[in-house]
Amino acid sequence: MPWGLQNRLARIIRSDGHTVMLAADHGYFLGPTHKLEIPRKTLEPLLPFADAIMVTRGVVRTSVDPAANVPIVLRVSGGASVLNEDLSNEKVTTSMKEAVRLNASAVALSIFIGAAHEHDSLVNLGKLVDEGEEVGMPVLAVTAVGKELEKRDARYLGLACRIAAEFGAHFVKTYFCEDFSKVVESCPVPLVVAGGPKLETELDALDLAYEAIQEGARGVDMGRNIWQSSNPVGMIRGIRAIVHERSTPKEALDLVKGGKPKK
Ligand code: R5P
Repeated sequence: MPWGLQNRLARIIRSDGHTVMLAADHGYFLGPTHKLEIPRKTLEPLLPFADAIMVTRGVVRTSVDPAANVPIVLRVSGGASVLNEDLSNEKVTTSMKEAVRLNASAVALSIFIGAAHEHDSLVNLGKLVDEGEEVGMPVLAVTAVGKELEKRDARYLGLACRIAAEFGAHFVKTYFCEDFSKVVESCPVPLVVAGGPKLETELDALDLAYEAIQEGARGVDMGRNIWQSSNPVGMIRGIRAIVHERSTPKEALDLVKGGKPKK
């Protein structure tokens, strides 16, 4: 792997091999998502606790202070909104040149395995990896499931993650599922897990992160379960404790409730 690409990736996946990415790119197809209506207000208090943030260029430009110096994972695919039945009709909507100009640490695009536009999304991934290799920019492939959340089983996600890796993605974002270790085993690049829709309790989301790490995920790329929590800062601190300090969900829950970190 070229030095520049390794260096960028190392800004995201930290020296312990793990990462807490804060996902806030939802607006690219969902519009003003609940609790992300004013991105700057949502993001600012969380930035000190995020190893990277996943956002679009619109949010980078308008809502992230350049001096915050937080690594950016730039969402570069899009083209369908939640009002469309088929969410899979995406293209690359932000150029590699723009990603370099924004000093992104990685670019992210969705692939839609089994969906109407599976082929286009995979060709998009291959091209993006070629462009990324040219300039030293890591590519994160997101194994999107559209509106069909029931697709999140190990067989489907294992297939999607492996295809992403075969196309050259440098890391992959997917969903946690039963038998997640099988998804990890058959994917030769690092995996991070999304949180998905807000779970009933904070402990449920902490459990998800804990199980994912136990089964081999390198971290999380979590959004709604952090910033839709009643205590977003406590929540991201709890997630950090699980990802970077091997805390248990119960220990992490103390942080969500306002307790002190382990060390
Ligand atoms: C979805 O495609 C977006 O890329 C989100 O970044 C992703 O779903 C992660 O956010 P959440 O934890 O809210 O699911």
